[in-house]
Amino acid sequence: MKLNICLLPGDGIGPEVMDQAVKVLEKTAGIFGFGLQTTTKLIGGAAIDATGGPLPEDTVAACKAADAVLLGAVGGPKWDEIDKAIRPERGLLGIRKALGLFANLRPATLFEELKHACLLRADIAAKGIDVLIVRELTGGAYFGEPRGEEVRGGERVAFNNMIYSEHEIERIARVGFEAARKRGKRLCSVDKANVLDVSQLWREVVIRVAKDYPDVELSHMYVDNAAMQLVRAPAQFDVIVTENLFGDILSDEASVITGSIGMLPSASLGASGPGLYEPIHGSAPDIAGKDLANPLATILSVAMMLRHSLDMPEAAASIEGAVKSVLKEDFRTGDIMQEGATQVGCVKMGDLVAERIAK
Ligand code: NAI
Ligand code: MG
Repeated sequence: MKLNICLLPGDGIGPEVMDQAVKVLEKTAGIFGFGLQTTTKLIGGAAIDATGGPLPEDTVAACKAADAVLLGAVGGPKWDEIDKAIRPERGLLGIRKALGLFANLRPATLFEELKHACLLRADIAAKGIDVLIVRELTGGAYFGEPRGEEVRGGERVAFNNMIYSEHEIERIARVGFEAARKRGKRLCSVDKANVLDVSQLWREVVIRVAKDYPDVELSHMYVDNAAMQLVRAPAQFDVIVTENLFGDILSDEASVITGSIGMLPSASLGASGPGLYEPIHGSAPDIAGKDLANPLATILSVAMMLRHSLDMPEAAASIEGAVKSVLKEDFRTGDIMQEGATQVGCVKMGDLVAERIAK
């Protein structure tokens, strides 16, 4: 078997963290005995400089032909002044659209060794945080038609529509149930069914889909309560599935409470075809080119890629185990540094994880 992975390093620290992730992926391929072919393509500011646009045609073609796509980060001050239509971030939106990625998976994990970084009270942090948020990405209020602004009764009004079809709800619910099946077998569907019609349909469809997953325990929660529960008692959650707008807010909330943006990976999945894996952080221009970036978010994105797109859970677990070992041995990049630990750079952190990959 030979995996074809398309690499999109992008801008700022993107290429630095990408190099470390590829190092770990290559080591994992060697240990687990799978072939690997990588193709590196331009996206974001790097693509603008070379071609005039943030998402060249051959980048899209290479991504579509790949088994999975790994992305670093895009953007930076160099491109902040240019026309909005060709900004680096457009490259990211464009590739998500081209690959039909409707499900965004964001784990928020508080590593045992990084509890000092957690923003929550120590007694809450002590119980741990290990939540996976599955956010619907292509529907809801961000895309519903009609949208816009008009004059009604002499004053301006503006409106967006939260619209979901049964089909859209069913496919994201299935992603949630499948993810729960691979983890703690508990799924919490977050909605606002006490107020919104769209949420009533959401809940109905989720309950229907649940019949196919008798091994997964389903619960429902209103979004305002979910926002409270995430800071009050996050340990109660395993997988959360929710619509686009609620998921945007809850996934940022969940990740920030863990306190370490440099640690968190993400996945975006479509109905078929390659998934896109990337760290949740941006291009960090303030530390780019200084060997200071934490590569663990991108390395953990490789683990998600092996688990969700390539059906290699053992290889994924091996990478996650290697990351835990490095943390347990008290190696830290600057962003997660604490007293008594050994500070290392981006490259060294990549080496340390790669050395610890084992079957
Ligand atoms: P950012 O995530 O790049 O940086 C925020 C802060 O976190 C900075 O202090 C940075 O040094 C630090 N940081 C981020 N990742 C880190 C890592 N791996 N290791 C150590 N420290 C890390 O967000 P910011 O500053 O708002 O945006 C910078 C650029 O990145 C902008 O052009 C923005 O548009 C772009 N961006 C791109 C994203 C993407 O490609 N998915 C997501 C977010 C922002
Ligand atoms: Mg957001």
